[in-house]
Amino acid sequence: MSALKCGSIGSVAVLGSILPHRPILPHSYTPMDVDLVIYPDLCDSFGHLNQASYLTLFERARWEVMARGPGMDFFQKAGVWPAVRKAGIDYLAQVFPGDTLRFGHTLTHLGRTSLTLRQTARRVSDDQLVATAEFTFVCLGTDGRPVPVPRPFSDLFASPTVGGEARRITVHGVNLAVDQAGEGQALLLIHGYPLNRSLWRHQLGAFPGWRTIAPDLRGMGESDAPDLGYSMATYAEDLVSLLDSMGVDEAVICGLSMGGYIAMEILRRHRQRVRGLVLMDTRMEADSSEGRKARDAAAQAARDKGAAAIAEAMLPKLFASPDAEHVGQAWDDVRQMILTTPVPGIVGALSAMRDRLDSTGLLPTLDDLPALVVVGEDDRITPYAAARAMAELLPMGRLEAIGGAGHLAPLERPDEVTRALADFLGSISPASAAPAGRQS
Ligand code: MLT
Repeated sequence: MSALKCGSIGSVAVLGSILPHRPILPHSYTPMDVDLVIYPDLCDSFGHLNQASYLTLFERARWEVMARGPGMDFFQKAGVWPAVRKAGIDYLAQVFPGDTLRFGHTLTHLGRTSLTLRQTARRVSDDQLVATAEFTFVCLGTDGRPVPVPRPFSDLFASPTVGGEARRITVHGVNLAVDQAGEGQALLLIHGYPLNRSLWRHQLGAFPGWRTIAPDLRGMGESDAPDLGYSMATYAEDLVSLLDSMGVDEAVICGLSMGGYIAMEILRRHRQRVRGLVLMDTRMEADSSEGRKARDAAAQAARDKGAAAIAEAMLPKLFASPDAEHVGQAWDDVRQMILTTPVPGIVGALSAMRDRLDSTGLLPTLDDLPALVVVGEDDRITPYAAARAMAELLPMGRLEAIGGAGHLAPLERPDEVTRALADFLGSISPASAAPAGRQS
């Protein structure tokens, strides 16, 4: 059998016609998503969706995208065939008849005659990532020779992140979504639990002379959410590999809450990669035995009731005011961030936080490391006293309290946080980092 399989964009009937219904779409739906119901004919004698059937389903999903876009006869009309050059599937969870899978599409590489398309399949009922696949296509003309990728085809799959500042980067077999903005020295922004990189939307690109890098951690945001494999060490290694992939040797790292736990883990493992440290709305101590039990209870709630149970429990504690009306848009944004976090990512983060090491002994050893501790004055999760204790232990530590902010200071008081970060970055590299609009 030839490794080059022509015509793999498909040759099946219009998919919409074989779907009995489209389920109610949760918030994570985008127009490029395709929902397919699993019928028994795709399953094996054990009652699971068979591994070979995934190829068919991924192909059907691509066909559906074509049908919604330039039409399924596009290639015939253009005299071009996309031939599969390479295919790889990661099977992550079992799927059964009656499940509805949502297929997502991202263009991860666009060459002159070839492109690589990444597809994901999530079960709609629990948002579980069940499989990811990567297909590399070469476009061939009628004479069988490579020809340029037709624009309507590449445009169809190009997400706003491709070709823009945001990127997708695979580390340790997990594909991470990353925003970056600006040029210069690297500032890595690590979000907390169970949030995503949009926590840093006001700080991204806000520091002239600095390249801000804000990834979604594994299991959160638009990054892959494997079932297993979550620990502070794993998050830390993911981020260091991400920096490797982006050509960054040394960065100032800034972590909020769980992001702070990860920042401390990076220091424990890769001290030489860290130029400066910002610990924001976080703490240095490990969980108490009560705290560990609470993590397990929260994980069970997430398994039983989904991300909504976590949103309901956390939202009133995250801001300076427990009242949505005082907080405004940020409340809805954070609610949405939590609701769109896949359950395996929530459960994984809870176990990673439960098992994290105590960093009380680490901080006093960081004698030559510029460090800033930032805390919302009304932080009710990691309060002011916890921040002050960290600042006192850090040999080069300084404390900055943000008035009118709770646990999510970068969203609740963005200008003040940006200014505090800019001053700190400026102290590391004096010629840089006045926030935009504040340069003289
Ligand atoms: C976070 O905001 O990352 C978490 O609430 C931290 C924690 O629960 O310890």
